[in-house]
Amino acid sequence: MSDARLESLRALLPELRLLVEPADLEHYGRDWTRRWTPAPMAVALPASVEDVQAIVCWANAKGVGIVPSGGRTGLSGGAVAANGELVLSLERMHKVLAFDAVDRTLTVQAGIPLQRVQETAREHGLQYPVDFASRGSCSIGGNIATNAGGIRVVRYGNTREWVAGVKLVTGSGELMELGRGLVKDSSGYDLRHLAIASEGTLGIIVEATLKLTDPPSPSNVMLLALPSFEALMQVFAAFRARLQLQAFEFLTDVALKHVLAHGEPPPFEQAHPYYVVTEFASDEASEAEVLAAFGQCLEQGLVSDGVISASDAQAAQLWRLREAITESLARYVPYKNDVSVRISAMPAFLAETQALLGREYPQLEVVWFGHIGDGNLHINILKPDAMAQDAFVADCERVTKLLAQVLEAHGGSISAEHGIGLVKKPYLSCTRSAAEIAAMRGIKAALDPNGIMNPGKLFDA
Ligand code: FAD
Ligand code: MLT
Ligand code: ZN
Repeated sequence: MSDARLESLRALLPELRLLVEPADLEHYGRDWTRRWTPAPMAVALPASVEDVQAIVCWANAKGVGIVPSGGRTGLSGGAVAANGELVLSLERMHKVLAFDAVDRTLTVQAGIPLQRVQETAREHGLQYPVDFASRGSCSIGGNIATNAGGIRVVRYGNTREWVAGVKLVTGSGELMELGRGLVKDSSGYDLRHLAIASEGTLGIIVEATLKLTDPPSPSNVMLLALPSFEALMQVFAAFRARLQLQAFEFLTDVALKHVLAHGEPPPFEQAHPYYVVTEFASDEASEAEVLAAFGQCLEQGLVSDGVISASDAQAAQLWRLREAITESLARYVPYKNDVSVRISAMPAFLAETQALLGREYPQLEVVWFGHIGDGNLHINILKPDAMAQDAFVADCERVTKLLAQVLEAHGGSISAEHGIGLVKKPYLSCTRSAAEIAAMRGIKAALDPNGIMNPGKLFDA
């Protein structure tokens, strides 16, 4: 605590929880990427919007960078503090503030975990439908700041669709109430949407008003084994035409191998190149449709095997095969690519990328999985045991450069749902034009004139 700047923060906010112990700096200074060495100056845990505003004003006066921090489950290095920044954790701001049955909205503080939002919606007989495996640890603020997607986008869309209002403390310390829960508002630019996917570079999301919807219809989960990616796309089209899909997720045999090694039981006696976990409404009419869709795909050789859940426990077990992938790969500290192309472009993109990787980098193990209904593929590269970490990262960055070129040719995006952060910063221009990046810089300058908000993320100052 010898830093005079920290002393001045203490003097300004004597009640503020401020952590400076090395273990805390390490814990709060990094996200799931585990690539950078955490080195924040301190960790602030404000308890109110007023505290957040005071911290931002202090940071402007002292020229200190702020890294907003939710659950630090991010996969793009957005919540990394490796350069003496102040981590501003929303952890203590985790309350449900209001439920409105008429508006069907839930107003929450930004630090609330996604799972608590889902549970609260259920308690009110409704649903908050954004969902993915880190639900217990990630925060709504982080979900909004990354425009998180997940496993139900095919049915419900990304986080963006569910944000009716955002309270943002901008980089200049202004409190802006954006959207205000209005269904309609054509009074100029919708600044709420700038906060969504801003990755903490414009300000700190302190509260959000979230839309809720009808509870999901009873559903069935099915695991399919498929011979090829082309077949998988045809099965997607056939299932989508007949069923109300709530999820349509894919993984390869390599991904399943890691999940099984992590302790999940094998679903089929023999291995298959591709697998799909799909969930759909299970009313009587759809049961006949499921049989018809599955039968048709089986007859055409598009599906090799399949299992349908007969209980909630079995459904959860099938979901584990998809949801445990990230956990099962964590020990490798994989290099992640999270890309999107138009759904119809996926087979060509996958074939080109697989050929390129096989040709240029046969020594790297590549694990594919993702969200078929959203044109979103996750490409995880694992470090061979014998390879040094630096050489591995250098190889992965070369791979990503090549990948970015393929993506550019397909009009795709270098980040589908994880954000740009530090990991994808060098490749932003493959997805966004120079004019777009200049406009983004202009927006940043307007809301964060001193560049204190998450410096070095998304783009350099
Ligand atoms: P953090 O990691 O803490 O931060 C992420 C970014 O948001 C950073 O730039 C940070 O500065 C900023 N930020 C955080 N809080 C605020 C705030 N209050 N105001 C302003 N900026 C803020 N992501 C998906 O999209 N889909 C998935 O299917 C998915 N599955 C996952 C599964 C696992 C097992 C794991 C570990 C991660 C997964 N993720 C997924 C990634 C991650 O969970 C999401 O990106 C999530 O939205 C991050 O939330 P967080 O609170 O952990 O944010
Ligand atoms: C997923 O779809 O499981 C997530 O985006 C996490 C990941 O990519 O590892
Ligand atoms: Zn994903």
